[in-house]
Amino acid sequence: MDPFEHFLEGFHRLPSEERILKVASWCGLDPAEISTLSGRNPLPLSTAEHFIENVIGVFPLPLGLATYFNINGKDVLIPMAVEETSIIAAVSSMAKWIRRQGGKIESHSLGRRIIGQLQIPRINNMEAAISALITRKQELIDEANAFVPGLVSRGGGIEELELRRIPRADGDGDMLVLHLLCNPCDAMGANLINQVCEGMKPVIEEVTHEKVGLCILSNLVDGNLIESTVEIPGITPEIGYGIQEATLFAQSDPYRASTHNKGVLNGIDPILIATGNDWRAVESGMHAYASLSGKYQPVSKWTYEDGVLKGRMVAPIAVGTVGGVTTLHPTARIALRILGVTHATELAEICGAVGLVQNLGALKALSTVGIVQGHMRLHTANLAMAAGATESELPVVRQKLSEILSQDRRINLSKAKEVLSELRGH
Ligand code: MEV
Repeated sequence: MDPFEHFLEGFHRLPSEERILKVASWCGLDPAEISTLSGRNPLPLSTAEHFIENVIGVFPLPLGLATYFNINGKDVLIPMAVEETSIIAAVSSMAKWIRRQGGKIESHSLGRRIIGQLQIPRINNMEAAISALITRKQELIDEANAFVPGLVSRGGGIEELELRRIPRADGDGDMLVLHLLCNPCDAMGANLINQVCEGMKPVIEEVTHEKVGLCILSNLVDGNLIESTVEIPGITPEIGYGIQEATLFAQSDPYRASTHNKGVLNGIDPILIATGNDWRAVESGMHAYASLSGKYQPVSKWTYEDGVLKGRMVAPIAVGTVGGVTTLHPTARIALRILGVTHATELAEICGAVGLVQNLGALKALSTVGIVQGHMRLHTANLAMAAGATESELPVVRQKLSEILSQDRRINLSKAKEVLSELRGH
């Protein structure tokens, strides 16, 4: 057993307080951070008040830990904030399986450029506008960078200006769209690029003698792609071909592709939430990217050959490790400490890798035993609680529900209520 596996042995059976202490020893958390994780003061109202408007409370989600991951040769613990039963168990068991099979999980950034759009909806002289913008391109890039001197001093900033001539959807001619491509360094970059776009509006109007419409970032960040791969040797044809066939289903049918991609996002969104990142932005980017060919496609693909199962996913994942809520939310700061990341690309690479492994877990289950058994066994706790079981009654009700599940392959809330009622001797 390698040292990381040894460290994690029995982790899921520990009481949560002991899990917290173990994680604290892993990444050196101080007593205040331990207290935050224990839920004693996870997000003070006074802090929440600054995040959004009309605050009336906070909404806690469970924060779990996905285990056994080795990404790019480094052991890593993955904090995931999520309400859905079995996501963390499934992804941890896949990471353990990959590890034990001698497999590899790798993830790399293919670029770090986000996009700001300035639109000229109705244009009087397209050729003249394009020509003026091309002639003064470098000057415009320099002017754009003047809005973000701090970013430029950190090695980022606007790096390119692109023009796109797009037919209007109403058939009434073409619009012209400018893309400012920006390296946001370790920020997600939405606020930065939006300010640059709005700042550049009068400049572009002056250069083109045209009226600029919308100025806003694009969430389809295809200059900010992450490529994640998984390679696992020693896989039986039954499992390997089953998973390959599941990919083919998703490639053939958008109804299946949607659920396939949901399985990928099951692994990504919880990390985004745990680290205070904008998961809506990543979701919309992913789905738009999945549709770029004109047909909604799975973002990941699995192939099987000569006993080796290979998975690959390329997807836009724009995240930040500075700015926004990331550095202000006490738990988000701890999540970054647990992950051991300081740079946005490292975080995005981990998100991609975990998304792909999560997807593997779903496809492996679906193409063999199905997901109901595993998911519902863990869901017994939710059903027992919903039925009104007390802490001491929970284990007995869960055990009975698991037995019923194995026998009937189905359980629900009324079954849980029946079991509880029997237990209480009614
Ligand atoms: C459930 O949250 C996710 C799955 O439906 C994903 C999939 O079908 O690939 C299991």
